[in-house]
Amino acid sequence: MHVLIPAAGSGSRMKAGRNKLLIELEGESLIFWTIKSVLSASLVSWVGIIGQPNDKQELLKSVKNFSNKIKWINGGDTRQKSVFNGLNSLPSTAEKVLIHDGARCLIGPDLINKCATELEQNDAVILATKVTDTIKIVDNRGYIKETPNRQNLWAAQTPQGFLVKRLRKAHEMAIEKNWTVTDDASLFEMLNWQVKIIEGNSANIKITSPLDLKIAKLFLKDF
Ligand code: CTP
Ligand code: MG
Repeated sequence: MHVLIPAAGSGSRMKAGRNKLLIELEGESLIFWTIKSVLSASLVSWVGIIGQPNDKQELLKSVKNFSNKIKWINGGDTRQKSVFNGLNSLPSTAEKVLIHDGARCLIGPDLINKCATELEQNDAVILATKVTDTIKIVDNRGYIKETPNRQNLWAAQTPQGFLVKRLRKAHEMAIEKNWTVTDDASLFEMLNWQVKIIEGNSANIKITSPLDLKIAKLFLKDF
């Protein structure tokens, strides 16, 4: 299985003054932990990391001896563009691909393998968890408009897996139609293409804010 790791963000919500993936947790960079997990999944055979050229040296240095097992790909100014660059840098033999955010360092190899296995029967799969909070849809004046039924609500995570040809087509359509999305499954939905949900776990958070760093440290102690 081929895996692409978007790592070309700036981490603005983390307010660390640099790419949050370079922040140290338990003695290693955040991206080190992500790459370590991905490379230890038995079904993974190829890994590409998508980063900003300015971060290249530091990111590759921080993943230490894994750097010779991963391919470097230049990212774009949005996640969507970064993933598209990644798709265009896959070896031509790649039929399926998992996209996994560099910022989700608490993923375990088992869930990565589960996504890879489910992708055998489906064109598109994503890891997600059932929402436990009651979700409100709010207007831009700060007043509640609606409360959707929680039974049908899932929080999307990564990995998200796809047939490469289909995902490339979806990204090309998005460019043509000016669609902007924050995950790849959204493009499939907009095209009415089916996406299968795989139940993951709520430990697989996207490290976004300083509080998430504290949570990640607690989990990484057990790794
Ligand atoms: N990402 C990317 N290219 C971009 C923007 C984001 O590859 N132009 C990556 C990030 O590095 C991250 C993943 O997409 O691993 C999810 O994005 P997010 O958590 O939003 O990270 P940032 O964009 O870095 O953070 P922020 O939105 O707070 O600036
Ligand atoms: Mg972002």
